Amino acid sequence: MSDLSLSASAHTPQLVPASRAVPSLLEDVRDGLLRIPRELPPKYFYDDHGSALFEAICETPEYYPTRAERALLLAHAREIVEAVRPQVMVELGSGVATKIGPLFEASAGLGLAVTYCPFDVCAAVLTKSAALLTGRYAGLTVSPLQGDFTAGLDHLPVLAGPTLYMFLGGTIGNFTDPAALALLREIRALMRPTDRLLLGADRVKAMAVLNAAYNDAAGYTAAFNLNVLSVLNAGVGANFVPSQFAHRAFYNEQEAQIEMHLVSREAQTVELPALNTRLQLAAGDSIRTEISRKFSPDALQKLLASAGFAIERYFTGEDEAFSVVLAAPAAA
Ligand code: SAH
Ligand code: AVI
Repeated sequence: MSDLSLSASAHTPQLVPASRAVPSLLEDVRDGLLRIPRELPPKYFYDDHGSALFEAICETPEYYPTRAERALLLAHAREIVEAVRPQVMVELGSGVATKIGPLFEASAGLGLAVTYCPFDVCAAVLTKSAALLTGRYAGLTVSPLQGDFTAGLDHLPVLAGPTLYMFLGGTIGNFTDPAALALLREIRALMRPTDRLLLGADRVKAMAVLNAAYNDAAGYTAAFNLNVLSVLNAGVGANFVPSQFAHRAFYNEQEAQIEMHLVSREAQTVELPALNTRLQLAAGDSIRTEISRKFSPDALQKLLASAGFAIERYFTGEDEAFSVVLAAPAAA
């Protein structure tokens, strides 16, 4: 629990301090790139440009998750809000928060005054969402929070009244199974009996549909993936040349996950002066930049049960493309 008071200004994100130490960008580069398999945490995608590219991905015809989740939220907003009667909504990894308008409308329809706390690592999306939402819905107060949800949730403000924690977009799939379990347990630890979790998770489906979603014809996903190299250049003074890498995304059926990689197009050396070393890459060497796990209903139920949740509602469309679940803290 925290004594953090909420920011007075709707547009200035309030910083949420880490509750435990997490590696710096430099440490992630050292530990992730100078060993094999090479891997980076996905949070580094989301500088201002990366967040704009993610928004563009969401509009592509191939990237179905945003449309599928938006349709589910629209169809079930009233049922969700009637079940929870939230006075507070805390959204982890909120992005520009364009899908949750129906929840605010349904809350206003029930006369509920809601404080919405979008929580994101990227200040630009918080400022944008606060500007878009403020004054748009009756009774809504927006209090953006900036921080890293992998650094613990102890300092998230805990406000009076039923709270709807939201983790949407399928971002839970960007965590390995143990990391997803740990994060869900942290959310569970914040929750009181009247609080609920609204979780969006992508579903296992035809491989061609999955592969297309992460290889859009317009090239936004490729640009999003390659942008992380510019983040590394700016953050640690490396000299990656993005055009010397290829975007590769494929569905790994055995692991039920999309994997995104950056593949070295040729033998090359990248300078890492802050680490006093260089990265030697052969043609075809790869850096894994993201996993995006896909969940069967059974796998999702098991994950939530292990984290101490009981599913109260399970929403999916006729196409079974995506799941949104409303989960209650299960009795200990
Ligand atoms: N929920 C939105 C955005 C999903 S994209 C949607 O459904 O469209 C993932 C979001 O999580 C981005 O806005 C990104 O900035 C944020 N994010 C990624 N890693 C994060 C971290 N470690 N801590 C906080 N936010 C993070
Ligand atoms: C944020 N997250 C759920 C997205 C996903 O689908 O895993 C990120 C993304 N990566 C490539 N396209 C979208």
